[in-house]
Amino acid sequence: MEINWPQLRAAAADVAGRAYAPYSRLRVGAAGLTGDGRVVTGCNVENASFGLTLCAECGLVSALHATPPAGAADSAGGGPAGPGLEPPVLVAVAVVAGDGAPLLPCGRCRQLLLEAGGPELLVDTTAGPLSLAELLPAAFGGADLSARRD
Ligand code: THU
Repeated sequence: MEINWPQLRAAAADVAGRAYAPYSRLRVGAAGLTGDGRVVTGCNVENASFGLTLCAECGLVSALHATPPAGAADSAGGGPAGPGLEPPVLVAVAVVAGDGAPLLPCGRCRQLLLEAGGPELLVDTTAGPLSLAELLPAAFGGADLSARRD
């Protein structure tokens, strides 16, 4: 799949402009390309109770699941969703700060992105795309649950 990195970075910069970050004053925007060619976005949302802050990638992953797939009948519940159907996947992600330049996802968000895109997910950096396998090596994942639970 062709990845238009400038377009993805521009979408991330656009949504960074809508961030709610009055406490840190670091606006962050994230844009992701889905396996079916959609672009989904998210921005950081802070809270006076600082620990409740939502990173931009949290919003992005929520949008990934909340947005109907390409070709869905309508946006009001007409598209396929629910148990038994394949969840949507991310194939590429750009995260930028308010200055428009790439910002590497924090550790928690790397873990979140892993579940949404797998180790092959490509993440934009100033030095070119890196895979999540490179950014989060030896990761914990769902396979550990099924292999190690009681
Ligand atoms: N932030 C993100 O949105 N994503 C990251 O990967 C790193 C940090 C936000 C959270 C907080 O609103 C601000 O940046 C400062 O930490």
